Amino acid sequence: MFAHHHLLLATAAATLAAATPLKGIYPQDNGTTGITWGPCDFESKTNATIQCGSLPVPLDYSNPKSNRTLTLQVVKAPAVNGPSKGSILFNFGGPGYQAINSLADTAPLLFNMTGGHHDLVAFDPRGTGRSIPYSCYDNATERELAALKYPGKFGNSSDVGLGETWAYATILANRCEEKTKDIGSFIGTSFVARDLMQVVDTLGEDGLLNFWGFSYGSLLGEVVAAMFPDRMGRLILDGVVNGNNYYHNFGIDKDQLLAVEDAWDAMLEECLKVSSDRCALAEVNSTAAELKQTLSNLVQQVKYAPIVVDDFVLDYTSLVAISYVAMKNPSIAPAVFKVLHDILTGQDLASLVPLLTAQAANIAVDGDGLYGIKCSDSFPRSSTLAGVMSEIEYGVSTSPNFWGILTTQVIQCAQWPFEAKERYTGDFKVKTKNPILFVGNSYDPATPPHSARNMTAFFEDSVMWEQHGFGHTTLAGRSECSWKIIQDYFNDGKLPDPNTVCETEVDIFPETPRA
Ligand SMILES: *[C@@H]1O[C@H](CO)[C@@H](O)[C@H](O)[C@H]1NC(C)=O
Ligand SMILES: *[C@@H]1O[C@H](CO)[C@@H](O)[C@H](O)[C@H]1NC(C)=O
Ligand SMILES: *[C@@H]1O[C@H](CO)[C@@H](O)[C@H](O)[C@H]1NC(C)=O
Ligand SMILES: *[C@@H]1O[C@H](CO)[C@@H](O)[C@H](O)[C@H]1NC(C)=O
Ligand SMILES: *[C@@H]1O[C@H](CO)[C@@H](O)[C@H](O)[C@H]1NC(C)=O
Ligand SMILES: *[C@@H]1O[C@H](CO)[C@@H](O)[C@H](O)[C@H]1NC(C)=O
Ligand SMILES: *[C@@H]1O[C@H](CO)[C@@H](O)[C@H](O)[C@H]1NC(C)=O
Ligand SMILES: *[C@@H]1O[C@H](CO)[C@@H](O)[C@H](O)[C@H]1NC(C)=O
Repeated sequence: MFAHHHLLLATAAATLAAATPLKGIYPQDNGTTGITWGPCDFESKTNATIQCGSLPVPLDYSNPKSNRTLTLQVVKAPAVNGPSKGSILFNFGGPGYQAINSLADTAPLLFNMTGGHHDLVAFDPRGTGRSIPYSCYDNATERELAALKYPGKFGNSSDVGLGETWAYATILANRCEEKTKDIGSFIGTSFVARDLMQVVDTLGEDGLLNFWGFSYGSLLGEVVAAMFPDRMGRLILDGVVNGNNYYHNFGIDKDQLLAVEDAWDAMLEECLKVSSDRCALAEVNSTAAELKQTLSNLVQQVKYAPIVVDDFVLDYTSLVAISYVAMKNPSIAPAVFKVLHDILTGQDLASLVPLLTAQAANIAVDGDGLYGIKCSDSFPRSSTLAGVMSEIEYGVSTSPNFWGILTTQVIQCAQWPFEAKERYTGDFKVKTKNPILFVGNSYDPATPPHSARNMTAFFEDSVMWEQHGFGHTTLAGRSECSWKIIQDYFNDGKLPDPNTVCETEVDIFPETPRA
């Protein structure tokens, strides 16, 4: 079904956790005692102890006369190894991901990574989840209908792909302009940075921001650090977006796929090192280069002859998307490689239905926050497809096989009707009160270590380390070495030696296949 393609595309484009339905409003801060913490109206999947509260903040920081407010919904997982040394705030990326459920669901892992001496705090960023969700559709049915009418395909899916994507993006831009006039300019990253500082003020600790931002969350961290350098405590920016690019490209970091081809090569090599019961593609060819060619031929073949499995269509877009998702989240690589193997060898694909269904159900797209936030941040616009072609060509030069994943974002942002009321216009040559710590995975297909290196060169005294592993951000692969760096930094402010490389303890094609 076309809708499923749309969903696969969404997984590939966005980052980390899945979205969750919206409901409920927590007890309001009464303005005198900071956030009033109470029970949450949902359970964390991990049974972590959590508390919820809320905090009204200005809707429009750029207009001191406006008294309109927005109520941020905030969650806290209290330190498990108390007494608390203070709070660490989190952003889980997207942009467009709500944070409340993401924090609740990852708290046990985050406590293990930080040592558990801090309270972990997150709020749904404006434009997401429970803090003014941003949607250009009235309801899920309308969204589904649009997905059927305008199926999202990667630019390279056919020689008319880019033109159709442009036309569909015009329709969405017009629809968003009409439906979200009242909030379209208020959800940009600078305002979220100000919200972060409001939460810091309200927590009433030492007045400094401690923060861990994943993926797009790293960009938020760069912006808050550049806007409030004297108020920075300890910041880990993990899976780094190049802020120099982000504002000046069409809603993306044009260098963000610099590691994806290396990641694909390295992942195929890992596969060839094991037996075919661990990686289904292991015995297809004898070198990674041959295997890469075989898979590339398969994608070309499926481009012209899509394969039907039950009511799914496996085509160019879905094959590129699942390969990319396997690189972002290596725990599903064995399953994805089995799919590719079974298609390649013409096996009965009925067994894939549960996997495809699960994959589609995994991503309940509940909003347009990704575009609403990124595109209103971004400066350039174009009224023609020709105007974005040089950025697309540049991207294709960085990743001929996977760059199609980003074309829809570029084409959408080029036509976006809103500009954020406040956009960060400076560079990132900034000295922060305390040094920032950056980290990039060697084979992160969405945020390459190159961008971490680039930003480290801008923020004075900042340091980066590299996690030598697969997947998107340090959450994708366990590394005792990285965990020690994280704990030393948050607990004692200790920085690793520059050029530290951490190995991971991950076997991406393990002996016992993961469930
Ligand atoms: C605000 O809430 C706190 C905690 O619930 C309570 O102790 C305090 O009396 C309240 N203040 C006002 C002005 O309602
Ligand atoms: C959470 O608690 C429920 C009920 O006690 C239990 O069934 C479930 O296995 C727990 N989940 C985790 C991840 O510990
Ligand atoms: C907000 O401002 C408007 C216009 O100045 C005013 O009419 C309204 O009473 C104000 N509301 C509050 C809650 O102060
Ligand atoms: C956290 O560490 C504890 C103790 O080593 C372990 O039992 C638990 O499985 C870990 N949880 C996660 C999510 O890493
Ligand atoms: C969804 O929105 C459309 C357009 O506003 C409306 O006609 C329809 O009744 C709504 N459907 C549901 C299930 O609310
Ligand atoms: C994808 O499309 C771009 C832009 O039209 C083109 O330059 C590139 O060669 C295409 N790549 C593939 C693998 O088809
Ligand atoms: C790699 O495997 C494919 C699929 O079996 C086969 O068609 C191709 O000839 C192989 N390549 C080499 C160089 O052996
Ligand atoms: C960092 O990225 C910017 C924007 O792409 C580029 O102009 C600059 O040369 C890069 N600097 C370093 C040190 O890599």
